[in-house]
Amino acid sequence: MLPASAAAEPPRLEGSGDGRRILILGAGLAGMTAAIELTALGYDCTILEARDRAGGRVFTMRGGTTLSQLGHPDSVVPYDEGQWFNPGPWRIPHSHESTLHYCRRFSVPLEVFINDNENGWVATKDGERIRLHTLRTDLRGNVAELLAKSAGDLDSDLDDGDTERLTEFLRNEMGLGSKELAYTGTDARGYKTFPGAGSRSGVVGDPLSLSNVLDWAGDVPGAALLSLPSRYFQQPMFHPVGGMDRISAAFEAQLPERILFRHEVRSVRQDAVGVRVIARDLGTGADREITADYAIATIPTSVLNQIEGDWSRETRRAFADIPYFPVGKLGFQMADRFWETDEQIFGGHSFTNAEMGTITYPSDEYLSPKGILQGFYIFGGQASQISALSQEERSQRAVASASSIHSDFGDHVKSAASFFWHLERYSLGGWAEHTRESREGAYTHLLEPDGRVYFAGEHLSHLPAWMAGAIESAWFTMERLHERAQQENQQ
Ligand code: PHE
Repeated sequence: MLPASAAAEPPRLEGSGDGRRILILGAGLAGMTAAIELTALGYDCTILEARDRAGGRVFTMRGGTTLSQLGHPDSVVPYDEGQWFNPGPWRIPHSHESTLHYCRRFSVPLEVFINDNENGWVATKDGERIRLHTLRTDLRGNVAELLAKSAGDLDSDLDDGDTERLTEFLRNEMGLGSKELAYTGTDARGYKTFPGAGSRSGVVGDPLSLSNVLDWAGDVPGAALLSLPSRYFQQPMFHPVGGMDRISAAFEAQLPERILFRHEVRSVRQDAVGVRVIARDLGTGADREITADYAIATIPTSVLNQIEGDWSRETRRAFADIPYFPVGKLGFQMADRFWETDEQIFGGHSFTNAEMGTITYPSDEYLSPKGILQGFYIFGGQASQISALSQEERSQRAVASASSIHSDFGDHVKSAASFFWHLERYSLGGWAEHTRESREGAYTHLLEPDGRVYFAGEHLSHLPAWMAGAIESAWFTMERLHERAQQENQQ
């Protein structure tokens, strides 16, 4: 087997949990992973979950979903029946074997998520736009011409044979003229007139000059021109058919009766033999004490930091020291799929230097009458600013930005809903945005338990902001907890 990742399967552990009780805080992917695997080992696991649903940041909104956001009135997602949008995780790298392991094991149907579509647009605020395939091809073609013409004069280690092979490669790659080595465009950049039947032989469009290409490159987000995206964003990527919560639902189905929903953790205390958690039943308002031999806290540290507990001073500081990133998205329900019918765009992104940077077309239900188009996916200071606006204002700003790509965009919008993770009271951030200091200090500290309480979650992995990080962190932590419990059993 050729592994693509640090851990492809849950650790194979010997021994038994012997019915020892483990209280897991949070029914996100980390908490449910730990519960599933530890239950299989013979532990008695209970999960406390403040929300009325499992999945944590794995969340899919549909028509009728209520969105609660700090500082804003509740709103109801206005999408039509059958339409959905993932404000959290939305794309799975093919190298994330841990995530794929559970999709395979729990039979969650996946389909390809188009993360790069060369037929998308690059647009400027002034309403100029160019297809990605045109810009990328002309960029490479011009660079190839420059390099091929000067290959012999380069101050490099190439010998004559290398120079010849390099020139040959560039000629083939970009269709450079065999003698003059000029780039005159290839069909990859697109046609002026299309080939077809009869006398329609097709004419390739005239290429942009290098200077012109560089003007574009200077104007638009860098990601638009990446011909080699970072490892995680290489095709194919995947997503579950019907929404990312198909994954959390599949995990949840493995844990009947084990998740106590609407149980908000109020305090975490422990002594030498056990853990005692007070949880508020948000249904009745009553506080309830639950005890266990061990606990695994998968609640984000941004939230743990606000929960009472007899933590060590270092643990308390670690909670405070992990920075969380403001993140939000908006999904437009579109009245039609004009990008498919009029512009032959099937999934992927278009880029703009207008406010929101990108829009993303749906990677499902092609050729159907409607769909959800991602109107923004924003981070950091921009997310903080935009999240202060009302749903209506956010939508207007997103329409204005998308109009730089599709001038009549607003005419096709039926409704919109946006969601920000830093305004979600049980997340308080999109993901952990570690600094070197927080990796060395807080991260390292929380890999170890505080007494009988262990920690897990995407924030305790080197894959933050990915489901695989939550899953692999749970695997890492359960292995340590089990080792400890085995030792204590023998005492
Ligand atoms: N996994 C998230 C996404 O795919 C966040 C992320 C973005 C993680 C960029 C790493 C790099 O959007």
